[in-house]
Amino acid sequence: MSIINFIDKFKKINRTLFTTPSHSQGEFIAPESLKYLGTKIFENDYSEAEGFDNLANPIGIIKNAMDTASKIYNSKSTFFLVNGSTSGIIASMFSVLRKNDKVLIARNCHKSVYNGLVLSGAIPIWITPSYNEEWGIFENINLDYLEEIFYKNRDIKAFILTNPTYEGVMVDVYRISYICKKYNVLLIVDEAHGALWHFHKALGTPALMQGADIVIQSLHKTAGALNPSALLHIGKDSSVNPKDIQESLNLINTTSPSYPLLFNIEATIKFLDSEKGKFTLYDLVKNVNRFIRSIKNIPNLEVYSYNNDVTKILVKVTNLSGFELSRLLFEKHGIEDELANEQSVLFLTGLGTTKAKLKKLEKALKSVCAHNIRITKDESSKRHYIPVEPRVRYTPSMVWNAPTKEVETKYSLSRVVMEVIADYPPGIPILLPGEVIKKEHIEYLSDKPKIKVLS
Ligand SMILES: Cc1ncc(COP(=O)(O)O)c(C=O)c1O
Repeated sequence: MSIINFIDKFKKINRTLFTTPSHSQGEFIAPESLKYLGTKIFENDYSEAEGFDNLANPIGIIKNAMDTASKIYNSKSTFFLVNGSTSGIIASMFSVLRKNDKVLIARNCHKSVYNGLVLSGAIPIWITPSYNEEWGIFENINLDYLEEIFYKNRDIKAFILTNPTYEGVMVDVYRISYICKKYNVLLIVDEAHGALWHFHKALGTPALMQGADIVIQSLHKTAGALNPSALLHIGKDSSVNPKDIQESLNLINTTSPSYPLLFNIEATIKFLDSEKGKFTLYDLVKNVNRFIRSIKNIPNLEVYSYNNDVTKILVKVTNLSGFELSRLLFEKHGIEDELANEQSVLFLTGLGTTKAKLKKLEKALKSVCAHNIRITKDESSKRHYIPVEPRVRYTPSMVWNAPTKEVETKYSLSRVVMEVIADYPPGIPILLPGEVIKKEHIEYLSDKPKIKVLS
């Protein structure tokens, strides 16, 4: 029985609950919550009353929902996450890495990987993907270099790869997975931005179909689910033990998971897998492609289209920095993008993106480009950071809780940084605790008067 059907049935038996949650399925709702959230979310919010399941040790309706999802995704096991991909990334690291294990990480990772490093005590080795300065984005992993790292470090346990990138750029997971297997390295793919891929071939090939061991996806980012719903899958032929994943999730998860979130995850997957869902997604892709074709005709405007997921639309306009374009769209047209960098602006689309929304964006882009006069570099825009190879002096777990002090950033050259420095979005680390501050960092951080360093 599905989670929602069970809740429906449960309501009919009219049991009197003296249990959490204390709002008693909406008997009490704070007035403002009632006004803005309504009653439904409360009516369907339960804890583990008799007959409900336990996310920490699922054997009933949650297990059933996760097993159904596992069949749809063709995974060995699928876990529902009610604390985002962040929790899946941390739990996957925790389950396959022990203290002082070496882990290779693509530097364009999300900052939650840092949390996983602190908690697991693993030693990071970084590989920086190629960087496209024209667009201000990360692109490919150099496969020869990847193989060289594995060859020289035979004790690497796992490789954490982000695919697609925040901007939707894909790397060759199939070949990376092949190389990982050759060196007996587990492949963990952060597919937070690729949650629709299983349901539309033209978007990208899911890492689960390319031999990854663990894949994490955010359902809230592109698949239309509530924040912060996500999934963790174990690859069909992977040696990763589902019990280890469950134990790791139990270390970090709440013991009161939200049933509205759980059944929204179940309902979202069911919809995506249905004829109607496939049609909706087909429609989205068709509309986005049409939109892209149309804006490509706007003079001075360029759309990124090299091996990327089309639902993430990356645009740049001649003579305007990404920050400038972003500001003009925001101030003059009330349009907010997902992120901007010095070069380009990212518009994220998903199941909720209507044709009307795309039309509005198209009109606004036309207007901006039509009035585009040469603008001298906007002084208020942020400086551009071109990634440099990180130099790790201490691992994040070694310096967790180590004494810190603040120094003026301009005098911090060669000091060991003690704070996470990452622009958000995208949340990609620029500096992580334990790393050495280089002159490129100081140049980029010129607006930051002080920085925390190891004392
Ligand atoms: C690449 C990537 N991975 C993981 C995450 C974390 O996802 P969540 O918000 O679902 O925890 C993000 C969030 O921005 C991300 O961009």
